[in-house]
Amino acid sequence: MKQPSLRSLVFLSAGLLSLGAAQAMAASAPATPSSAAMPPGVEQFVFGTLPDGRTVHGYRISSGGHVDMSVIEYGGIITSLKAPDRHGEKADIVLGFNSLEGYLSPAYKKLNPYFGALIGRYGNRIADGRFTLDGKTYQLATNDGPNHLHGGDEGFNQKLWQATPFSSSEGSGVVMRYTSADGEEGYPGELSVEVKYTLTHDDTLAIDYSARTTKATPVNLTQHSYFNLNGEGSGSILDHVMTIDAASYTPVNKTLIPTGEIETVAGTPFDFTQPTPIGARIEADNEQLTRGKGYDHNFVLAREPRPTPEHAARVTSPQSGRVLDVWTTEPGLQFYSGNFLDGSVTGKSGHAYGHRSGLALETQHFPDSPNQSGFPSTILQPGETLESHTVYRFSTED
Ligand code: BGC
Repeated sequence: MKQPSLRSLVFLSAGLLSLGAAQAMAASAPATPSSAAMPPGVEQFVFGTLPDGRTVHGYRISSGGHVDMSVIEYGGIITSLKAPDRHGEKADIVLGFNSLEGYLSPAYKKLNPYFGALIGRYGNRIADGRFTLDGKTYQLATNDGPNHLHGGDEGFNQKLWQATPFSSSEGSGVVMRYTSADGEEGYPGELSVEVKYTLTHDDTLAIDYSARTTKATPVNLTQHSYFNLNGEGSGSILDHVMTIDAASYTPVNKTLIPTGEIETVAGTPFDFTQPTPIGARIEADNEQLTRGKGYDHNFVLAREPRPTPEHAARVTSPQSGRVLDVWTTEPGLQFYSGNFLDGSVTGKSGHAYGHRSGLALETQHFPDSPNQSGFPSTILQPGETLESHTVYRFSTED
């Protein structure tokens, strides 16, 4: 499997746009149908029961390609994604758990890594959990030192989403819906969110986000899967070779809030414009790496969102031959090298998830945008529809 050609990319983008039609059809379908009514390529199962008695369903999705995945209604979490290595041997390449208990356990909540989850309302940090919009100041939870992180005390990662499985000419998947009440976690406006996961026939996971609001509000939606292309639980990702299509990044202060500068990566350990092992410079004497405890930074892909997804990053594993390519319409990419993983939680295959045993590539707007006038705006106005598209493609190389 090679990197997709330009032709297949154009096809992919066109396919993504036509997903809107399937989405409209899915909208009229009943929520959480019984297993008997499942569309081709989707199997429903019970993943667990929340403490308040609500059942959490999961969906196993396969599209006739080489990849299959599972996603659950709690947090919209991708709990499993199996992809073949260069010899055709499949492994689960995302960190996570086999049961709901894993995601609810005190050890997991203490570490709070957001494995595989949908993140909102605001992915990444807002300084001091505060922003001013149309002359009014809003105070959000400060759940990460002095700052607000990933939507607050109970972000979208902990909500029970309503799932509608579907299949279309592109593949099979699930539309996840959640309505966030006006004032939830301190944010203004009722926000209606849809996230569509499509696993296509050619081993692509397309994630299409849309949102509407009743009042002006900041929104920054992302997906928080941790990948290990050698298989989850197999150790560190430092041998993975990374390419990021970004000539600049946003340096941070001591609490990981962008300073507001947009700095060139040239001549720094943040230069991934050429394929470079993640471990090559992660311990370099560099103040930004010290602050992030490794890579935990927003890379600038563009100064504004793009109309169709453009290539953002490529990760390869020399050991397994697995390759992950990322395309997005988003202007930013948070590359997080799993620096806070510390072995305190044990994943689905029984291995503790140690330091840097998974990496996240979070397509997004820049952190703290509501307080940074030089960054692309994250304010959604009533009457507008936020649309954002990200594509993860899995392949192999020799
Ligand atoms: C952040 C990290 C954080 C991790 C888990 C990432 O998106 O950039 O700083 O530790 O999420 O919360």
